[in-house]
Amino acid sequence: MGFYHSMHDPAIEGILVSTEVIADTVSELGRRITADYAGKNLALVTVLRGGVIFLADLCREIDLPLSLDFMAISSYSPGAGAVRITKDLDDSITGRDVLVVEDIIDTGLTLNYLLSVLRQRDPASLAVCTLFDKDVRRLVDLPIEYSGIRIPDRFVIGYGLDLMGRYRNLPFLATLREEVME
Ligand code: PRP
Repeated sequence: MGFYHSMHDPAIEGILVSTEVIADTVSELGRRITADYAGKNLALVTVLRGGVIFLADLCREIDLPLSLDFMAISSYSPGAGAVRITKDLDDSITGRDVLVVEDIIDTGLTLNYLLSVLRQRDPASLAVCTLFDKDVRRLVDLPIEYSGIRIPDRFVIGYGLDLMGRYRNLPFLATLREEVME
């Protein structure tokens, strides 16, 4: 009987972004955020569920006092841009310097909705940090202050990103085999 190992998972085509490149990118983003937010009232806001992996690593690369809070949202229909909040933040963000932490920005529709909701709550500032940026798929033009790694238009899994709930725990970003997609 064999043991499971992600390197031999038949669904995984190959590694698109390695663990080492992710770690270096997260560290660099943390360094920039630390420099930019010194003396501010930083609140990191993350969207469940995929973003938590990146958040957990990023927050430990930010050498400042900060708070963590979470939201969950659900699409009425995939890609429609119509979203509803299924879990709201626990704390007020009024007067806080809010940084939205996302694992990936694809069409930008999720973020566009989220930013409009958060802006109404009068934060002192509102900015975005994403680890992966699938910018060729963008449908809305959004300012992204901190963007880690541009990726091509492929279905990717790992480091928070899932396929039907699986693979979020892969320590790298991987592409799927075409057969799995079909
Ligand atoms: C991902 C990601 C963003 C969204 C980006 O979440 O965390 O929230 O997709 O896509 P967009 O730019 O096209 O709107 P997903 O819907 O996969 O939820 P999950 O984190 O729970 O897997």
